[in-house]
Amino acid sequence: MEKIKVAVVGYGGMGGWHADHLLNSDVAELAGIYDIKKERRQCAEKNGIYTYDTLDDVLSDKSVKIITVAIPNDSHEDVVIKALEAGKHVICEKPVALTLESLELMISTAKRNNVLFSTHQNRRWDVDFLAIKQIKESGEIGEVLDIESRVQGSRGIPSDWRCEKIHGVECCTTGGFI
Ligand SMILES: NC(=O)c1ccc[n+]([C@@H]2O[C@H](COP(=O)([O-])OP(=O)(O)OC[C@H]3O[C@@H](n4cnc5c(N)ncnc54)[C@H](O)[C@@H]3O)[C@@H](O)[C@H]2O)c1
Repeated sequence: MEKIKVAVVGYGGMGGWHADHLLNSDVAELAGIYDIKKERRQCAEKNGIYTYDTLDDVLSDKSVKIITVAIPNDSHEDVVIKALEAGKHVICEKPVALTLESLELMISTAKRNNVLFSTHQNRRWDVDFLAIKQIKESGEIGEVLDIESRVQGSRGIPSDWRCEKIHGVECCTTGGFI
């Protein structure tokens, strides 16, 4: 079976994680990465990964079917819309959008271009989440009125852009993690 080619935009913490998983996937293949910072592209090259010089180079690569967007939250919309308009399926990191309008624009653009758009809500695939979902759907425990689930970052929220409201996150003082 031919593997589906995926490009990763943003080669930071999560982009590196996506790239590593793609390198080990049985069904998908890492076409390459694009990062706005030259040093991050150089880092990928050192790791043996093909790098695109510009986002346009990623978008015009016809072999790329899926783009994973792993850049700061306030930049998601621009890259996601461009990728969808280029006919690529898109998986965007969470939180995917800063406003409801922004999310609706992404969804309508995906529909208009007949491509898939999803967000990397990885917690939805955790075994505890799936177990609770299965129990709820079985009806075993009757009607569920409320479920509270929390994941605590062991080292708190990382610093950098995540502490600035303009990028979509406001508070770095708690141990919580989005
Ligand atoms: N799913 C999860 O569990 C999880 C965990 C951590 C972060 N995230 C999300 O992943 C996204 C990225 O977070 P991170 O921790 O990897 O950040 P990061 O700062 O480690 O990496 C972001 C990278 O994007 C690059 N970048 C910035 N703007 C760009 C652009 N316009 N085009 C190309 N590259 C660009 C930066 O140079 C940087 O290398 C955020 O949306 C964040 O909320 C999700």
